[in-house]
Amino acid sequence: MSIVYLNGSTMPIEDATISVMDRGFLFGDGVYEVIPAYGGNLFRLQEHLQRLQNSLDGIHLKNPLSNQQWTDALNNIIQQNSGEDQSVYLHVSRGGAAKRDHVFPDEIHPTVFIMSNELKQASRETLQQGVVCITLDDIRWHACHIKSTALLANTLLRQQAKEEGAVEAILIRDGVATEGAASNIFIVKKDVLITPPTSHLLLPGITRDLILELARENKLVCEERDISEEELRDASEIWMTSSTKEIVPVIELDGKPVGNGQYGPIWESMIDIYQTYKNRLRQGEA
Ligand code: PDD
Repeated sequence: MSIVYLNGSTMPIEDATISVMDRGFLFGDGVYEVIPAYGGNLFRLQEHLQRLQNSLDGIHLKNPLSNQQWTDALNNIIQQNSGEDQSVYLHVSRGGAAKRDHVFPDEIHPTVFIMSNELKQASRETLQQGVVCITLDDIRWHACHIKSTALLANTLLRQQAKEEGAVEAILIRDGVATEGAASNIFIVKKDVLITPPTSHLLLPGITRDLILELARENKLVCEERDISEEELRDASEIWMTSSTKEIVPVIELDGKPVGNGQYGPIWESMIDIYQTYKNRLRQGEA
């Protein structure tokens, strides 16, 4: 049975209920984080808490908990749920008001919710098979750096990808690739690793930042710059990255092979580097 945290208490998920007047329900007025925990150790916790703070600032909502309170609540939920590796979801909405009004209520009691699910990582063999992606127009708003719970555009895009037999949609805005519907993207061109720069057009992924950090430590040449649609289609490797999927090679885009249609050598180096980092984290050393 899954144990969750809701507004200061822990309880079985079946007992966790919120008001229908919650602005998270009525307006998608909230923000969230997804944090993996490997062997009980939260992955890049300070970075996730900083991004949460930035998202809360972005929607003008005061952080309801201190970083220590977040840490304690998250660790408590990990301990109360099963799974050597877990994916922890935390969510802050602006809370409820007596009447539905777009304008924020004067008195605010945010709703704080945490749940955790077992995280089953794909095996290396499965990862090596790669995934199929399609490109779609980026129909989202212009504040994609805020990790908002209002994800309707992302869910529609992801659903369309699924219906077209793809795992992810890579989004194109004004001729450049921004990110996936639920992931960041990297390409490899002439052995250079390229990812779009952070801006209001994409989420500053924690996995993205770690890959850049590890790549630079390992002397891989990296660039943070716009990727044109043409360059995307011409890349020798494309990866999608996220906390839960880690680094996945894209082997087909819009029905055409990426590079030679198989995972590439830079992905293979990076996945080893990433696994080493994760093992250090598992031992409590990273
Ligand atoms: N999503 N971009 C978008 C739009 C995302 O939704 C995500 C992750 C990322 C990758 O960020 P990170 O490396 O910090 O996980 C990029 C999570 C996993 C989700 O919504 O479930």
